[in-house]
Amino acid sequence: MEKSSSRKRESWGSRFGFIMAAAGSAVGLGNIWRFPYLTGENGGGAFIFIYLIFVIVIGLSIMLAEFTLGRRTKLAAAGAYKNMDKRWTFAGVLGVLSSFMIMGFYPVVGGWATAYIFKSFTGLLSNPAAIGDAFGAFISNPIEPVIWMVIYLATNILIVVKGVASGIEKAGKILMPVLLVLMILIGLRSVTLEGAGAGLKFMFMPDWSKVQGSTFLAALGQAFFSLSLGMGAMITYGSYLDKKENLPSSALTVTILDTSVAILAGIAIIPALFAFGMEPNQGPGLVFIVLPQLFAQLGGIGVIFSAIFFIALMIAALTSSVSLLEVVVAYLMDQKGMARKKAVSLAGGSMIITSLLSSLSMGVMSGFTVLGVGVFDFFDILTDKIFLAIGGMLICIFIGWFVKKEDIKNELTNGGATKFALFDVWYNIVKYIIPIAIAFVAVFGILSIPFKGLMLFGLAVIVVLAIFSKKL
Ligand code: PFF
Repeated sequence: MEKSSSRKRESWGSRFGFIMAAAGSAVGLGNIWRFPYLTGENGGGAFIFIYLIFVIVIGLSIMLAEFTLGRRTKLAAAGAYKNMDKRWTFAGVLGVLSSFMIMGFYPVVGGWATAYIFKSFTGLLSNPAAIGDAFGAFISNPIEPVIWMVIYLATNILIVVKGVASGIEKAGKILMPVLLVLMILIGLRSVTLEGAGAGLKFMFMPDWSKVQGSTFLAALGQAFFSLSLGMGAMITYGSYLDKKENLPSSALTVTILDTSVAILAGIAIIPALFAFGMEPNQGPGLVFIVLPQLFAQLGGIGVIFSAIFFIALMIAALTSSVSLLEVVVAYLMDQKGMARKKAVSLAGGSMIITSLLSSLSMGVMSGFTVLGVGVFDFFDILTDKIFLAIGGMLICIFIGWFVKKEDIKNELTNGGATKFALFDVWYNIVKYIIPIAIAFVAVFGILSIPFKGLMLFGLAVIVVLAIFSKKL
């Protein structure tokens, strides 16, 4: 990712630039679109509790592991593994595949967000009772959301062709804080609506009877997705880090930022949802239905709030999806020797096709299923419920069992210059606890969800990659 090398040259100094870049990748649709609806679908407080435990114990540790591996090798995902141990190339390539597949549905939702900027002005808010139906009609339309998806994806492509993301980065630096302030304002309005208390209770008073194996799998997948882990994005960011940076504190900052935005999004949406008397298990439409209803209540200024919110959401999504596209492009350039333009055309062109199929699976193609699920869900479930978690497990096994402990300690503490009192705790978590925990969650989770064929297919893909690793 040259993006990050350009970041280092920027005048704000490398630490702030790096944190903004990594946080830009982490904070995205995962926090604002996905986290609230997963919370709603998985029973509320208990899901949030399990999610937070996974973020602290597993997510934070893996982020540190990815930064360390990246900085040590100074290479992007696939190259980083390859450089250290050829047999492990497949773990990096699995990450590239995950990026590619996430880009098979992420642009669809990015397109929805983009469309809603304009819809804010064209009467969306004038009939609050119809907002839910309007969303359903919009996403199942065969043309309109496809056009927005293409606009969104083309923006990504343009940014990545240029090689440096300075424009979007600047926009992000202004709009991320805007997004944060806006979420706080929206949250304040949401919790003061009549009947909002039930939503806060739903979020923060765990009802353990709602917990199943699938709750753990959903929380684990979301932790990886939201923190951009398990697919090498953070390895790549780490590869541009200065040898002087304090890795543990960088990982902690990014994790806290990302988690705060997710919780804020929950507070903005879920209490309002209860106040409006809606069911929490609305699924992926949640943010696009509840927030416009809330904006509609604000009167004339609601339109402005709505437009600014969806602009900020789109930019947050862009800073994430650009990093996904760049992972694929960097692989094609570094490992397959392609020129940047060609790599972007190939990757971007393929993503237009996969995202097109995903978008259509919300409507005209809803009857078409692969291993029991529609195209959108196929990409979503495979990455979030299998590939990312296994990718995270692999980096832990690699670092814990295949790299010398001394080397890792040296890298992590900048050759002993910075102290990391918890090194041994972290190391043992990475070496033993995470691989075992992920294996448990994967087995119990897979047993408790309906699409077992899809899960087995995912595992088979990983095995095939491992077998053919030399060719990758
Ligand atoms: N973390 C992003 C989000 O929450 O929207 C999604 C994502 C970006 C996942 C980059 C993985 C990644 F490498």
